[in-house]
Amino acid sequence: MSEFKKLAGLTGMKDTLPPESSRWQQLEALVQQWLAAYGYQNMRTPVLEHTRLFTRGIGEVTDIVEKEMYSFVDPLNNERLTMRPEFTAGIVRSAIEHNFLYDRPRRIYAMGPVFRHERPQRGRYRQFHQIDVEALGFSGPDVDAELIIMLARLWRMLGLNDIRLELNSLGQATERAAHRAALIEHLERHIDVLDEEARRRMHSNPLRVLDTKNPVMQEMANAAPRLFDFLGPESRAHYAGLCARLDDAGISYTLNPRLVRGLDYYNLTVFEWVTDRLGAQGTVCGGGRYDGLIELLGGKPAPAVGFAIGMERLLDLWQQDAPQEASAECQVYMVHQGDAGQRQVVRLAEALRDAGLQVLVHAGSTGFKSQFRRADASGAAVAIIVGEDELSSGCATVKWLRARQDDTPTQQESVAFAQLVDYLKQRI
Ligand code: HAM
Repeated sequence: MSEFKKLAGLTGMKDTLPPESSRWQQLEALVQQWLAAYGYQNMRTPVLEHTRLFTRGIGEVTDIVEKEMYSFVDPLNNERLTMRPEFTAGIVRSAIEHNFLYDRPRRIYAMGPVFRHERPQRGRYRQFHQIDVEALGFSGPDVDAELIIMLARLWRMLGLNDIRLELNSLGQATERAAHRAALIEHLERHIDVLDEEARRRMHSNPLRVLDTKNPVMQEMANAAPRLFDFLGPESRAHYAGLCARLDDAGISYTLNPRLVRGLDYYNLTVFEWVTDRLGAQGTVCGGGRYDGLIELLGGKPAPAVGFAIGMERLLDLWQQDAPQEASAECQVYMVHQGDAGQRQVVRLAEALRDAGLQVLVHAGSTGFKSQFRRADASGAAVAIIVGEDELSSGCATVKWLRARQDDTPTQQESVAFAQLVDYLKQRI
């Protein structure tokens, strides 16, 4: 026995094993097809970035920066680093660094793990995965609408039900400043109902105070001045432009004036897609416009808009609406007897793979019975058997393990080794 104590994985960081992993792969393939249909191109940025990228980009007074980042000092060169808690800041950093917006705007996506030290529960993990989409260098509501129309298509492709769109406009900095002053006044008037966190944030990030789940503060939050009422004509026109295009596309939405999002970089359009079918963590996708971020991170000013989908939540919903069918490990399972049989089967298997079939060769030398059990468990459509008889006749025995697509009765047949590829290609 090893002295090594068995170790478990980290809290809130999941392993994904087969067959669940094949569902992930299906989703990834579908998502790539979906993004290509709109001309979005893939960008890959590192998991680790300088901590100050996120503190600056996402904002000092946000949950993510205040308490959720996996940050450490790299002892090899004393740099403060953070494992990305989102993609947007890294993508913007990279676009600036590589002059990527120099000649034209860009449609970009990224997919992969992100890290936030939150209290784990269903739909909330410490390592989770996002599909992140960013339209860099576009200013109009047409692109905001494109992103939302695109998302509606993804939900359709996946057959998802009961997922609704909430919209808000956060206006521009001057409008937010006027609203902020009115809001702080309101909070000061109701200081007696504010909890400790709200009191701490009321001057640094008063909008977030309204995002509270504390029941005692609901009435105060409902009565607070609404940012939407402080919007000037241009911001209103942007919002109206977006709504008109969503109406054209037949996409319904509700204005949620309390929707503020948990990251500081947004202006004008913000949106979330939510469902009641995922328990407390019902937001499947969130995003919005961030026209100031590129400049804030040292680039030439350029507008941008984007969103991120939480893949775990999306998969949970997809599984409810379109449950995964049992997935097979292979199409063909090779059963054999004796050394010569095993070697013949390997040759046949390579030829079948050349023809594009998925083939598993039984490993080891167990009896036929246990090999058939394994063949059956593999989900293969057919077992190919090569034992002494088959070797001397030059024909493999073909045993169909499942009803065939062409509905011929399941049966056992003898097929010459040289014919096997053609025979199976026509029938699988
Ligand atoms: P976010 O709202 O922080 O936005 O995250 C986007 C999505 O990631 C959420 O709607 C949710 O589905 C998922 N998510 C967030 N936290 C967790 C968690 N702990 N466990 C599982 N899933 C989670 C952003 O990250 C922005 N960067 C989106 C964006 C892109 N805005 C503009 N461009």
